[in-house]
Amino acid sequence: MYKIFFKLVFSRLDPERAHHLAFRWIRLAARVPVLRTFVAAALAPRYAELRTEALGLRMHGPFGLAAGFDKNAVGIDGMAMLGFDHVEIGTVTGEPQPGNPRKRLFRLVADRALINRMGFNNDGSLTVAARLASRRPVFRTVVGVNIGKTKAVPEAEAVADYVKSAERLAPYADYLVVNVSSPNTPGLRDLQATEALRPLLTAVREAADRVAAARRVPLLVKIAPDLADEDVDAVADLAVELGLDGIIATNTTIAREGLGLESGPSLVQEAGGLSGAPLKARSLEVLRRLYARVGDRITLIGVGGVETAEDAWQRILAGATLVQGYSAFVYEGPFWCRTVHKGLAARLRQSPYATLADAVGADVRNPA
Ligand SMILES: Cc1cc2nc3c(=O)[nH]c(=O)nc-3n(C[C@H](O)[C@H](O)[C@H](O)COP(=O)(O)O)c2cc1C
Repeated sequence: MYKIFFKLVFSRLDPERAHHLAFRWIRLAARVPVLRTFVAAALAPRYAELRTEALGLRMHGPFGLAAGFDKNAVGIDGMAMLGFDHVEIGTVTGEPQPGNPRKRLFRLVADRALINRMGFNNDGSLTVAARLASRRPVFRTVVGVNIGKTKAVPEAEAVADYVKSAERLAPYADYLVVNVSSPNTPGLRDLQATEALRPLLTAVREAADRVAAARRVPLLVKIAPDLADEDVDAVADLAVELGLDGIIATNTTIAREGLGLESGPSLVQEAGGLSGAPLKARSLEVLRRLYARVGDRITLIGVGGVETAEDAWQRILAGATLVQGYSAFVYEGPFWCRTVHKGLAARLRQSPYATLADAVGADVRNPA
């Protein structure tokens, strides 16, 4: 039914307008007690066997919403109502900014992909922190906060900008993510080089500890799929050395591999980050590489091209304790989480593993 609706309604709207419209409906539904109870019961059934513990946090399951969908923390309960076991808000920057000029989001329907060059449009760390502070959660869900650099801030002052966001947002974050991997802020991805990443992560860790003294907020870094393999290894080693809690792999790609011809050359050539199905293979490869390097010492979150329960299962076998998605939600609609959860629970039951935790990294530990 959603696919017919998508074809008749959403596919005729500008993708960004369609996003805002759908998100508004979700938020509205979450505000009406009877409706949200009904929707959550239908779309977010809980499976005891999927219960997950990661980053010192308890979750109903391993499957969450990737950053970029709820940039301003306005619809956390709405997304929890649809079944996401954790919601990563952001990217939030030190200062508010409008992002790039529109049009900046493109659908490659035949490829089940998106290209975006949103450029971190968001309300800024002060406003988002105030919103999180006044939030009265309806559903118990884990909230990750993803932070990035304000575009107008010179690269030499990037650390201070991240620190500002961390100081404001860490008190409300179940976990904090340093995003150095979006392709749409000039120079951002250079921060993935270990010489730049080391002082950045150290400063953000100290900032989080300063403001959330009573508890240690887990800190993660989110990396690009376009890193060379040696650079993936270098980030993994640095993460272990600094005692980071986790790595999120991966953000969108600037590559244009894996696309069919139907999307047409003009769409394919749009600048920005490509997400969805064409990203699947590389994201999985990066995850596998990370797990081979870090094992169970830090938590890995697998994201990029996850569409089905089988995809989520493959990420877990490759080393992910948590799995996220975004683009497939656009194409699959509100029943997506339900399908993933049901399939994942069935996959676990058929497997030789007693728990999801036992399955994490099994393919890398015991290659066939
Ligand atoms: C429209 C759009 C906006 C995004 N914005 C952000 C962002 O602000 N911060 C971030 O870390 N990732 C952002 N992402 C990347 C996603 O979090 C995710 O890493 C990527 O899309 C791959 O997952 P997917 O194939 O399931 O979409 C964005 C993705 C899309 C499609």
